[in-house]
Amino acid sequence: MSEPGKPARTVLVTGASSGFGAAIARDLAALGWPVALGARRVDKLDAVAKAIQDAGGKAFAHPLDVTDRDSIDAFVHAAETSLGPADVVISNAGVGIPGLAHEVSPDAWRTEIDTNLLGPMLLARRVLPALIERRRGDIVFVTSLNATQPRPFQSGYSAAKAGLENFAQTLKLELEGTGVRSTIVRPGPSQTEMGWDWDPELVKPMLKSWKRFGVLRHHRFLQPEDVAGAVRSVVTAPTGTHLDLVQINPEAPLEES
Ligand SMILES: NC(=O)c1ccc[n+]([C@@H]2O[C@H](COP(=O)([O-])OP(=O)(O)OC[C@H]3O[C@@H](n4cnc5c(N)ncnc54)[C@H](OP(=O)(O)O)[C@@H]3O)[C@@H](O)[C@H]2O)c1
Repeated sequence: MSEPGKPARTVLVTGASSGFGAAIARDLAALGWPVALGARRVDKLDAVAKAIQDAGGKAFAHPLDVTDRDSIDAFVHAAETSLGPADVVISNAGVGIPGLAHEVSPDAWRTEIDTNLLGPMLLARRVLPALIERRRGDIVFVTSLNATQPRPFQSGYSAAKAGLENFAQTLKLELEGTGVRSTIVRPGPSQTEMGWDWDPELVKPMLKSWKRFGVLRHHRFLQPEDVAGAVRSVVTAPTGTHLDLVQINPEAPLEES
């Protein structure tokens, strides 16, 4: 249940069918906050929502494709009709399609930009007027270490995440004084569903190149719950304070064996 004296806040989470998004939804629901879950795989969304409800939480699942403006609008409308006005929006959905810049298809780049950059921008545009009017709210953008440390084989993904961080920082300036906080949560290497469908023939040279350029220093990974904890610390930060950028990494071993 929500902390005594602190009202529950209604949450929207994109990309809630797996990985970080599902963990963030479970984590915030455990505070007693109602959560709306959006993603394309409805069967997976329903399973996450059911697990939250079975644990005593309030969850609402609705299909969402962040590359489609009408779908964003329908998701926000349905979520707010079911749970009430959103207070906290977690823009987490993302996709990576690896390949060298001169080999990867332009369609892959388009998907990465539409999902990781334009989608979150359109979602922000959809939810911000109401948050500003109520003079309180959080919009959290899940970016990536790639935003500041680009990696070979991930040109489109890195460019999109760098653009997203710039957008989030612009919002932070535009929102100053409104009570609405725009925050970047920037995770390092993590164990989720991302990457498991990548072609092993690409992954081998990709990992070699990451090692060569020092962006793969060890083999430890964050778990989705770690990132959920970082998001929780951002959205539960006391009113009047702002954790505006949280970078989270797996702790490195003393030395790599
Ligand atoms: N894994 C890592 O190492 C890592 C590190 C740093 C940052 N990140 C970022 O963390 C975020 C979550 O990724 P993850 O690691 O948790 O991977 P994941 O398990 O693959 O989750 C990605 C989520 O995004 C959703 N998604 C993808 N395209 C979508 C679309 N067009 N519309 C709506 N939802 C969409 C997926 O759901 P559906 O397929 O059901 O739509 C899924 O729920 C992403 O933004 C990713 O870039 C990941």
